[in-house]
Amino acid sequence: MFPALTEDQLAIQEAAREFATAEIEPGAMARDHSAEFPKAIIGQLGEMGFMGMMVPEVYGGSGVDALSYILALEQISYADASVAVTMSVNNSVACAPIAAFGTEAQKQKYLKPLASGAVLGGFMLTEPDAGSDAAALKCRATKVDGGWKLNGAKAWITNGGVGRYFVTMAITHPELGKKGISAFVLDADQPGVIMSKPEEKMGLRSSKTVMVTLEDAFVADDDMLGQPGDGLKVAFGGLDGGRIGIAAQALGIMQRALDESIQYAKTRHSFGKPIGEHQAIQTYLAEMHAKVEASRLLIYKAAMLKDAGKPCTLEAATAKLFSTESAVWVCDRAVQIFGGYGYSREYVVERLYRDVRVTTVYEGTSEIQRMVIARGLTK
Ligand code: CAA
Repeated sequence: MFPALTEDQLAIQEAAREFATAEIEPGAMARDHSAEFPKAIIGQLGEMGFMGMMVPEVYGGSGVDALSYILALEQISYADASVAVTMSVNNSVACAPIAAFGTEAQKQKYLKPLASGAVLGGFMLTEPDAGSDAAALKCRATKVDGGWKLNGAKAWITNGGVGRYFVTMAITHPELGKKGISAFVLDADQPGVIMSKPEEKMGLRSSKTVMVTLEDAFVADDDMLGQPGDGLKVAFGGLDGGRIGIAAQALGIMQRALDESIQYAKTRHSFGKPIGEHQAIQTYLAEMHAKVEASRLLIYKAAMLKDAGKPCTLEAATAKLFSTESAVWVCDRAVQIFGGYGYSREYVVERLYRDVRVTTVYEGTSEIQRMVIARGLTK
């Protein structure tokens, strides 16, 4: 237990834990196998105020701090990381940029439905040829009467096909290079937004990820987020918070892998005693525990800096790098401890091993986090 949590933060953590245990965990394995989107659960999370946790109450959110959000997300991820990423993307990279950069009218129009869970949101930055090098995006916004028409392709879009409002980056002024990229809130409920079939993913199988083709997709002038040219600021600012969220998702997954491993080590016997009494397994468990605890502190620190209104780019990248790399290692060791059973779809560690793998990739690869950290250290 982290010593400095307030009563309110502990209450949110407990509410998330109870809901995750009672409502999310029981169907997680079946949803992983069927790839069924957890629509009802997302609706319930909306009713609980978990879909727009940091959105001010006046716009329909819960108005809580980033640390409370992280505490809740970890608990949800512990039960089902697919639900966690759906929640994280809606909170961190859909609601948060709108709350930070939106006009009063945009906040009224978009945050209320997004925060209530009535409508899901997402983030369209990545393109087939522009992932880590986000500024290389090609999606073009062309000025038309009353707004802009967007043309291009977006890739790996979480909540695509199940969401409606997407924070979307496109080039409005090609002659200005990186400063010619602008951000919009795109309503996907129009014929010019064409979603592919969901990707067949290794893990997070019940979350939805699609490719998107934009063919004269319309956004009104009033749907631009921030000023013309603010696109990368909106995107990268949102990703600071997003990366703390993905780090918390990884934390939930690895805490689960550790807890499952401890239980198994106590009950599985070899050479006449529980395997947890063998030094080889004890070494694994101890290192797993150390990585979980260290990750938790880095994540909470980044969230607390965000709550204090201080820059947290370096800390968010550090938390994401360390936590996600640790989580991949912890889940790998969990499979090792479970032996053959760890390779079976009947056991949860097999799902954790698949679910965790993308956390070092999305919302900025580990290589990009190292770049962000090094830039922060040397600037
Ligand atoms: N907050 C606010 N603004 C920021 C910022 C931050 N953390 N980082 C940079 N900016 C601003 C800069 O100040 C700059 O603006 P000015 O010129 O006005 O100062 C502008 O953004 C461009 O910054 P850079 O010149 O530093 O940009 P770059 O091209 O060198 O790229 C990078 C930097 C860190 C490598 C960046 O491209 C990056 O983070 N890449 C990874 C992208 C990523 O994480 N993609 C994941 C997409 S989401 C996803 O995974 C799918 C999902 O749905 C889950």
